[in-house]
Amino acid sequence: MAIINENYLKLKAGYLFPEISKRVKKYSEENPSKKIIRLGIGDVTLPLPSSIVKALKDASDEMSSSGGFKGYGPEQGYSFLLEAILENDFKARNVNFSTDEIFVSDGSKCDTGNIQEIFSLDSKIAVTDPVYPVYVDTNVMAGRTGNSGIDGRYENLIYLPCSKENGFEPDLPQERVDLIYLCYPNNPTGTTITKEKLKVWIDYAHKNKSIILYDAAYEAFIQDKNLPHSIFEVDGAKEVAMEFRSFSKTAGFTGTRCAFVVIPKELMGYTGTGEKISINQLWSRRHTTKFNGVSYPIQKAAAACYSIEGKKEVAANIEYYMSNASKIKTSLESFGYEVFGGENAPYIWLKTPKNLSSWEFFDKLLSEVQVVGTPGSGFGPSGEGYFRLSAFGSKENVIEAIEKIKNLKL
Ligand code: MLT
Repeated sequence: MAIINENYLKLKAGYLFPEISKRVKKYSEENPSKKIIRLGIGDVTLPLPSSIVKALKDASDEMSSSGGFKGYGPEQGYSFLLEAILENDFKARNVNFSTDEIFVSDGSKCDTGNIQEIFSLDSKIAVTDPVYPVYVDTNVMAGRTGNSGIDGRYENLIYLPCSKENGFEPDLPQERVDLIYLCYPNNPTGTTITKEKLKVWIDYAHKNKSIILYDAAYEAFIQDKNLPHSIFEVDGAKEVAMEFRSFSKTAGFTGTRCAFVVIPKELMGYTGTGEKISINQLWSRRHTTKFNGVSYPIQKAAAACYSIEGKKEVAANIEYYMSNASKIKTSLESFGYEVFGGENAPYIWLKTPKNLSSWEFFDKLLSEVQVVGTPGSGFGPSGEGYFRLSAFGSKENVIEAIEKIKNLKL
């Protein structure tokens, strides 16, 4: 008899985004003539920049010649990409790493989901609430939580509520935790963190021998020059943090797939008897065992994001999405909505009007004006009463969606 991993049965219904797609599909089948505008999942809509496509094509052509063909590559990533990352994402911000502290992968969803495997099942986990659901669900699957209660919280998971009341700034956990997931600029609230506030988390982690799992997938959208793009811009982070980065939103790689995680050599975990173990080496062991590397053409395409032309094109795409974000934010504010985020992140987080629940507002928007967003409660109990709009749509669709929301009868 094949006994299943019963932790999976603790998971709530479906994963958030497929659940939304299911509802939208049903509505669209019942109302085939209605045009639906999707500002739900944070999926990019602009095509890949041309210099990046050129690199992809050139690398594919290389693969067709006997001299240029490549089989298995280095699991951690080709050195041309590792070096481009070090130079542009870190050295340019006075942060120095060596290439063996970077691990290239096929996405931050996989990285942030898989990382928990190298930690004990007894680890105490803290998540901000609302939160990117992958952090929670993968810990549920692994068995680090109990069941979810009627308040929507899993037992044994420490939730750090973020709401307009605390300015979306989570308090430090009341009890000691081993792992803390932080994401800035934040998905879903679009809010940010300063270096001073990050330092408070870093000090907490030092004091408690905790590790911060820092998701910086949206750092490229930061407009405010004072905000940190990397946790490693803050003193003391190398001993207590790792950082997840992605080309998905930055350069339009949601369908192309390339990301990386930075794990400093200084970062240590402990055995049950207190012996220090390098997290970098543990992850390297896991990565090289379970992953055969991102394909050569995709890594060439990722490296092209750092060329002069690539940087220009990527910056133009980000400007396009941030102009959408600004339009959504200012328009909704002028319609009387309470709106957060959208200034340094491609997400707009709004308070649902008239105390509607997140899913009630989702249904209302879909059925009355055919705009799709993401219900805040899908990101955690503290997301109830909030709603997320993504700025990744086309400019035309964003303008049309705003017009429609303006006419929504509340
Ligand atoms: C989101 O909409 O939150 C993101 O697209 C999810 C993801 O990056 O996996």
